[in-house]
Amino acid sequence: MHTAQKAQKISRAAGRIHSSDIRDLLQHAQQPGMISMAGGLPAAELFDQAGIQASTQQVLHTHHMPALQYGMTEGQPALRRELSSLMAQRGCPTDAQDILVTTGSQQALDLIVRTLIDEGDCVVLERPSYLAAIQVLQLAGAHMLTLPGDAQGARIDLLPELAGEQRPKLVYVVSNFANPSGACLSLERRKLLLQWAAANQVMVIEDDPYGDLRYRGERLPSMLELARGIPDAESCCGYISTLSKTIAPGLRLGWAVLPLLLRESALKVKQSMDLHTSSFTQEIAAHYLASGRLTEHLAKLRAAYSSRSEALAQALRVTFGLRLSFVTSTEDQLREGVQRLASAYAEINPDNAELRPLRNNTSFSG
Ligand SMILES: Cc1ncc(COP(=O)(O)O)c(C=O)c1O
Repeated sequence: MHTAQKAQKISRAAGRIHSSDIRDLLQHAQQPGMISMAGGLPAAELFDQAGIQASTQQVLHTHHMPALQYGMTEGQPALRRELSSLMAQRGCPTDAQDILVTTGSQQALDLIVRTLIDEGDCVVLERPSYLAAIQVLQLAGAHMLTLPGDAQGARIDLLPELAGEQRPKLVYVVSNFANPSGACLSLERRKLLLQWAAANQVMVIEDDPYGDLRYRGERLPSMLELARGIPDAESCCGYISTLSKTIAPGLRLGWAVLPLLLRESALKVKQSMDLHTSSFTQEIAAHYLASGRLTEHLAKLRAAYSSRSEALAQALRVTFGLRLSFVTSTEDQLREGVQRLASAYAEINPDNAELRPLRNNTSFSG
């Protein structure tokens, strides 16, 4: 090894993280005419640009001091108040003081993992799972146990056997429209998970970026809401969410609701990481939420995503017919589905050699 390379030897922790295949695939999303579903990118043409612009101007006009100054690690009071109202609208009233604002929900997960997990600690997640969550766990050196999933979400019934003697410290689930499976964890499984967590004193982190985008079917109660009715469950339950999918990911705003001890420790970790999340975007989001525009905007998003999903399903039926099945559950089936989609796509689009062949280690998240 050259001296220069020696000086750049990366840590064992950094060496454990693999780049996400789907993030790598995102470069193809830049191609003209490509509709990419490789990552959880919100439809950019639906951003409420006028609303965000109006809030930005208003903040600079009347709130420039708190917006441009250093802020509190917990988050700007105005945004915490608005997020507290948002939690109430989601059926889970939460005190503003119990909300920790983070730089996207990605940071919320990172803080929780840094706070709870030592190298070698066991963490349970659904298979397949959100790749950026896996990266956080890789960085922490967690030992990952995976539960298979089906149309009702992770197979919580298999959790006691999977956990066995390994005493997991954390279970991570995306409760609504999981990335990448799209499944919602059923009510029964939510309750089962909480009962198991309470009995075994294991922390459950519910990641809920997509619940507000539901355009069909009944809203399911969050596990945080359910935990309030299950003995000993509330102290085992954390909730993280984001404004990325409903307002804009460029704001980089998420939040966490955590049991007190975990919240206080996560707060100290956050302080050392970035002091606080951008006060500027927090004030803009607070103003935007207070303006009431989100309700109308959400209705617009739900209608647009609903009709787009219908159009996609219809186009897939017409174009691929029996060559493509829609409902897949195991990782192997998903892998096969992606391969079949790639071959079928290559068949009808022979000029696009870029996508052929998909790499063998294609993963299923973004
Ligand atoms: C399941 C899941 N959690 C978290 C995130 C990240 O959200 P944020 O932009 O708030 O970091 C995403 C984004 O794709 C996601 O799909």
